Amino acid sequence: MAASLRYHGARPSADPLPNRQIAPAAAPSWRDDRYHNQRDAHSRRLRENWFGSCSIADGNRGDETNVLLKDYYHRVVEGLSIAVLVLDRNLRLLFMNPAAETLLELSFRKAHQLALPDLMIGAEAFIAGLRHCLSSGHPYLERELQLILPPARIITVDCTAAPLLERDPPVELLLELRQVDWRLRISREENILAQHHTTRALVRNLAHEIKNPLGGLRGAAQLLERELPDPELREYTGIIIGEADRLRNLVDRMLGPNQLPNHGEVSIHEILERVCGLIRVEAHAGIRIDRDYDPSIPTLWGDADQLMQALLNVVRNALEALGDCRGGVITLRSRVQRQYTIGAKRHKLVARLDVADNGPGIPPEQQEQIFYPMISGRPDGTGLGLSIAQNIVNQHGGLIECASRPGETVFTLLLPLGKSG
Ligand SMILES: Nc1ncnc2c1ncn2[C@@H]1O[C@H](COP(=O)(O)OP(=O)(O)OP(=O)(O)O)[C@@H](O)[C@H]1O
Ligand SMILES: [Mg+2]
Repeated sequence: MAASLRYHGARPSADPLPNRQIAPAAAPSWRDDRYHNQRDAHSRRLRENWFGSCSIADGNRGDETNVLLKDYYHRVVEGLSIAVLVLDRNLRLLFMNPAAETLLELSFRKAHQLALPDLMIGAEAFIAGLRHCLSSGHPYLERELQLILPPARIITVDCTAAPLLERDPPVELLLELRQVDWRLRISREENILAQHHTTRALVRNLAHEIKNPLGGLRGAAQLLERELPDPELREYTGIIIGEADRLRNLVDRMLGPNQLPNHGEVSIHEILERVCGLIRVEAHAGIRIDRDYDPSIPTLWGDADQLMQALLNVVRNALEALGDCRGGVITLRSRVQRQYTIGAKRHKLVARLDVADNGPGIPPEQQEQIFYPMISGRPDGTGLGLSIAQNIVNQHGGLIECASRPGETVFTLLLPLGKSG
């Protein structure tokens, strides 16, 4: 029977080497019953080994095996990349694994017996969810939950809480937190890039459609002007020509720089200093400009004038957002990021330039749209500054992103370093 199971193809009719030593049977394939029998036996043996040595299965087994088993499970929980916490009925911490220590930036030695609500700022809804889970015994799930950890660190997590043991009412809560900031950042950046590419294609087509007839319109108005017998009537042709010029300038601005980029070695700090000098002249005395540079950032390969234009557009926005208020602070920060992904491309080194201000912030419903052309929150704004800046940075293989809440708005320019980015 065993021999008939050994082969699935045609069985050899005669042994070509009659005096050979018989080799061990070939390993059974997954289609073979023997494979499944062996696998079941293996897992049964494993179960018997573990639970046989455990006091649950046999109260007579020694303490030593119990300790070994506990140590094994302990190592499994310690090795998890997801943060695991156990809380008592009063939400005091009974256990946290190393991933939880890293996430909360807190050692278990210090946090033991501390109440979870004291470790977070303003997490009332989350805490209420955990309490409800304890009182009802029903699991509590929350996706993309923002937690503020003292002093002001914001993390976003997917959270699952469930009673640890089946007791009525539950006495302990098992809380799992998975940080999703990184995943959210990637998808947000992909959105910004996709949004930018769609807008660019739209603007280019629209510009083509507008500029062609506009040239004809302007030329016809000029011809008409020459033919008009009454000079007073020239006022009307003047209006046509003036408006046509205004429209062409607007379309040109929407298209962005029309010269070929002049690439070379660019020092990020030189650009930051030039922008800082210009803004100092424009800002009133109540506004402070702080600089916080990482001097180790190497040069990047790009067009210095265009990059300066992009940065200036962003810093000017910060200045305009601060308006006349006293105590306004604009911070220019430079850092370097290693192994950083922008869109789908991973870069060895990326320069990160933050332009932060303590102004009123951007309303949440506007935040998704500010990089579109013609979107402005200012009565005298054309809504092109950020779209032009995004375009320039994008042409350098980078990206501008924004995070804003009242009192803190940060625009981040990410620029790959090195010639190939
Ligand atoms: N730091 C900031 N704080 C608050 N709101 C901002 C900030 N930066 C940009 N915004 C908002 O984003 C909008 C779009 O900015 P953008 O630079 O594209 O256009 P604009 O400043 O209105 O016009 P312009 O074309 O003259 O730059 C602004 O009108 C403003 O409402
Ligand atoms: Mg602007």
